[in-house]
Amino acid sequence: MMRLDLLGISCALCCALTACERQMKDMYRQPRYDTGEASPLFPDTKSMRPPPEGSVPAAIGERSATSSGRGGREELAAREIANAASGPAPMTLALLKRGQERYSIYCLPCHSALGDGDGPVVRRGFPRPPSYHEQRLRDAPDRHFFDVITNGYGVMYPYADRITPEDRWAIVAYIRALQLSRNVKTASLPADARRQRAALPGASGAAR
Ligand code: HEC
Repeated sequence: MMRLDLLGISCALCCALTACERQMKDMYRQPRYDTGEASPLFPDTKSMRPPPEGSVPAAIGERSATSSGRGGREELAAREIANAASGPAPMTLALLKRGQERYSIYCLPCHSALGDGDGPVVRRGFPRPPSYHEQRLRDAPDRHFFDVITNGYGVMYPYADRITPEDRWAIVAYIRALQLSRNVKTASLPADARRQRAALPGASGAAR
């Protein structure tokens, strides 16, 4: 009797699992169009829809724009020229604010708000970037930061398709401000900032 029950239960389980498997297969086989397949749904019978009028292609890279790759190469060459011609803009508060905003969007997730490389994405397992406050990066020229944003660096991917050359320079200016925030000599501060610094707790012992 007991054995019969067991048999019944295993039979029921088997049936249930098979049904489940069939359901999964049905999901694999749900109706969809293959690339380039015709469709009666649209007057031009194409299932692949053209982009809405006025759309600007955002894809970049060697193979963008045309299947021959020519468009992508031309675009890259034009960008090279734009990159080479661009240079740091004069430092203004507006430039720094723009840089801070762009930095917060594009760089902070890994490099952190302080620039020490402990951003939220890194805390979840992405390789840790070097701190902007290490001597080598303090000494690096502005152009190095611009080039890293443009071309990527090691495991860091490039940002040229998302950040215009002007905005890259704004970010560089902001990174310089971040670096300064950790490494400024008291003597180089304006008088009112020196007074504020002197009023900070423990300032006398830390005077540099
Ligand atoms: C997805 C994470 C991530 C984001 C977002 C990111 N980076 Fe990085 N970055 C890295 C990692 C990781 C490295 C170290 C790469 C390596 O050494 O392989 C790095 C390295 C760098 C370096 C150091 C290059 C050197 O000489 O060692 C600079 C400068 C830099 N990033 C700037 C930026 C700027 C500016 C942005 C925003 C426009 C940015 N990064 C966005 C992950 C990121």
